[in-house]
Order: sequence, then structure tokens, then C-alpha cells
Amino acid sequence: MTDTSVTLSGIKLDNPVIPASGTFGFGYEFADYYDINILGSISFKGTTKEPRFGNPTPRIAEIPSGLINSVGLQNPGVEKVISSEIPRLSKYFKKPLIANISGFSVDEYVCCAKMLDKVNQVGILEINISCPNVHGGGMSFGTCPESAAEVTRAVKSAVSKPVYIKLSPNVTDITKIARAVQDAGADGISMINTLLGMRIDLKTKKPVIANTKGGMSGPCLLPLALRMVYEVYEAVDIPIIGMGGISCAKDVIEMMLAGASAVQIGAANLVNPYVCRDIIENLPDVMRQYGIQNLSQITGGAHNGK
Ligand code: FUM
Repeated sequence: MTDTSVTLSGIKLDNPVIPASGTFGFGYEFADYYDINILGSISFKGTTKEPRFGNPTPRIAEIPSGLINSVGLQNPGVEKVISSEIPRLSKYFKKPLIANISGFSVDEYVCCAKMLDKVNQVGILEINISCPNVHGGGMSFGTCPESAAEVTRAVKSAVSKPVYIKLSPNVTDITKIARAVQDAGADGISMINTLLGMRIDLKTKKPVIANTKGGMSGPCLLPLALRMVYEVYEAVDIPIIGMGGISCAKDVIEMMLAGASAVQIGAANLVNPYVCRDIIENLPDVMRQYGIQNLSQITGGAHNGK
């Protein structure tokens, strides 16, 4: 008998598979395809205080083994998310949610976090200080230990639910940011967001993406994400939700061995809307194949002690 359950800050998930913010809408869109209540949790689209139309198009560029996006945090704003999107999702998904929150100032993060903290179904607040596609907010908070700590401290003092900070790979040493948010009170870390990249159209000789640059994701990112999760696992004592290039059950196990307590699936949802379901269905077989009975016990297994 295999046990796929894992625990994040006292919240038990049936399995570690969580669709990543920005690749699964508000979740109910996928209920036409399969029973989304099988998912471990759902991290819904990055939510800001005000509604956002997002960046000009084109926002997407294909790359070998993935894509570059520059969506620009398109979302209906926190009030609408609470009054319409979450109630719609609740009809299909009955488990604790991960609320992904973005902002352009510390006050904005705090305001959204306070509002979403009061929503019963929200289990974890995932503070996104790593969006590479907006100016004057997003990633600028996540590339400096002091500002990452400032956002963490401010949000933590305003809410009661666990706060996970979503980190950017676009830094020289991600362990410095991880330690800073842990010291500021973070309950956990989500990592990694996308890696900055660009493409140039040979016909126009201009960038493919209207916003010039965007965030790369896809299977090509898995080794980079594994390396960073491995490093951060050694640097902090709080749980890590690992993501970056995961597209099958074996990748989930690899990410957990590197140090993740649960995982998020991002770009793979855009290629195959059934991928999270397929991974959940395949996990027990892959666990048996590698002699794993209890998934929660493999976190950090690739390390030689800590
Ligand atoms: O542009 C976007 O909406 C992406 C957000 C993110 O990568 O955090």
C-alpha cells in the first residue's frame, strides 16, 4: 500500500500535486476535463488589489522545451476573486486553496493578504515576490533580501494563515533571499518562478514579446529548479513547495528528493490539461517501482544529512 499524502504547515494534502498559479486559471475552467477534487491543492491566478488587464500582446513565445510568457498579472482584482472566482471554484474543489498574491507595494500585498486570509477555503497565502513581467513591483521585491524580508514581515503581522513566499530564480544566490524570508517569519517557500528570457523575430528583427522579455518555463527548467531547491533545503528549515519543469510522476519524486514537501505543476498544464490528473494516477506505480511506500518521507532524501 502506498501513501501519497503530504503535509504543509499542518494542512494535510491527499497528494503533493498542485497546479501552479497562472497555468490553471481559477481552477473551475478545468472541471470540464476531470474531477479537480483529486488535486492536492490549487494555487490560483496571481491576485492584485485592483483588476488588471495585463500586458500588450504578443505575450507568449515558444522555445524548445517550453515557453516564455509575459501575461502581466491579468486578474479581476481581489474583491471579484473573493466574491465570484473562489465561490465558483468551491463548487468543484472542496479542499484548502493556495491564494497567490502579487503587488506593487508592501501595502498592496498586506491589503490582499488580509482579505484572502478571511476566506475560509484559503489554507495558505502564497506571496509572489517574483513575477518578472511587471514594472515597479513583483520581482523587484524578490531580488533583494531586505525588501523580500520587508514584505514577509508586513504580511505575517497582518494575517493568521501560513505565509509562503514565492521566490525568483533571477538572482545570484537564492539562499540569501530564502534565509531572509525565513528570518522574517515565512512559514514556507514556493520556488522557482520563471527565468527571464526573450526571443527575436527574424522577419521584424524585433522582440517577439511586446514587453520584450518574459518568464521562461517548461521541462528545460527542471535541472535548474532542482539545483535551487536542493540549495535552499540546506539553507532553511521551513517547507518548500518545489516547481519548475515538472511534467511527470518521476519528476515529482526527483523534486521531493531535492527537498520539496509538495510540488506545483506549471507549463505542463498548458501542453496537456490532464497532466496533473495523469501524474496523480501514476504516482503510486512510480513509487512502487522505486521502493517508496510513504511519499512524505522522501523529502530531502538526496542530501547526506543536514
Ligand atoms: O505575467 C504574469 O502574470 C506572471 C506572473 C508570474 O510569473 O508570477
